[in-house]
Amino acid sequence: MDLSALNAVANAMVTPGKGILAADESTGTIKKRFDAIGVENTETNRRDYRELMFRAEQTMREHISGVILFEETLYQDAADGTPLVELIKASGSIPGIKVDKGASKMAGFPGETVTKGLDGLSKRLRAHYERGARFAKWRGVIDIADGIPTWGCIKSNAHALARYARICQQEQIVPIVEPEVLMDGSHDIARCDEVTRSVLQAVFAELYEQRVALEGIILKPNMVISGKGSVRQAPAHEVAERTIAALKATVPSAVPGIAYLSGGQTDEQATAHLDAMNRIGGFPWKMTFSYGRALQAAPQRAWAGKADNVAKAQAAFHHRARMNGLASLGQWEKKLEKKAA
Ligand code: 13P
Repeated sequence: MDLSALNAVANAMVTPGKGILAADESTGTIKKRFDAIGVENTETNRRDYRELMFRAEQTMREHISGVILFEETLYQDAADGTPLVELIKASGSIPGIKVDKGASKMAGFPGETVTKGLDGLSKRLRAHYERGARFAKWRGVIDIADGIPTWGCIKSNAHALARYARICQQEQIVPIVEPEVLMDGSHDIARCDEVTRSVLQAVFAELYEQRVALEGIILKPNMVISGKGSVRQAPAHEVAERTIAALKATVPSAVPGIAYLSGGQTDEQATAHLDAMNRIGGFPWKMTFSYGRALQAAPQRAWAGKADNVAKAQAAFHHRARMNGLASLGQWEKKLEKKAA
């Protein structure tokens, strides 16, 4: 393993002003997104939609440090025959690949899941590296409800994340380590804070035991935030302060960067929260975005499956990428949103 090369990729993924586009929706998840805009979930439509983002050259070059792909997309060609991965590389962005096989019901733990996908992982990573992938993603899911999460579930997901991360590094691929505490539920922000801290503690303990070099990973956590159904929605400054405090207490400073998931926040919330954290500052890591929904909801609505709407969709993508790029610098302002609208 060449750690300085892994560290160089990890640092490039969190270049200030840029962040990661999570375009790795599985075929089932992209169907949900396409259903919402009345688009049929065919391989061609998936290709056309993702191609329009990767061909937004200025947006990609200025604001997107890396793209997380679903396996189909990594091996797919654009309409003119160019591999999509080459479009990403041509804009100076780094291709990455989701390698987990999804969260499945955890035997003995009602209501909880553990993420699968370790079988044959080395071999798959070697092929993905050949095709151009330089980082990977694995998501462990932790749900908050009555009596959960259990320690057994936290520990199992942390262990799988650590095994995945070590295998990635062995294959010269930077692992994005993504333990997601879901924001579904009526719990308050204090409960999210407590659970997020336990999960991160467990993840870093396992990473240490599995001999993962922290200089060669990116952490993709949830923010510490109120449950969606909570009666009190904590304001942006509280989300920012609690998230920074929770990470400072659990994440070693050798980690080069934190790239948050959006997790069901509105587009503007996801931007405002990232901006608030970078304005506060005083932490040892770069902090940026690795958003799926909060980057793509607007372009998806603008596109609606019509070739005539490609330029409009690219403009919507540019706007969100620029807003989040500014948030990664702590330079976003709400009035910039209004101007664009
Ligand atoms: P969201 O930003 O939509 O939560 O997606 C990010 C992601 O990659 C989840 O695994």
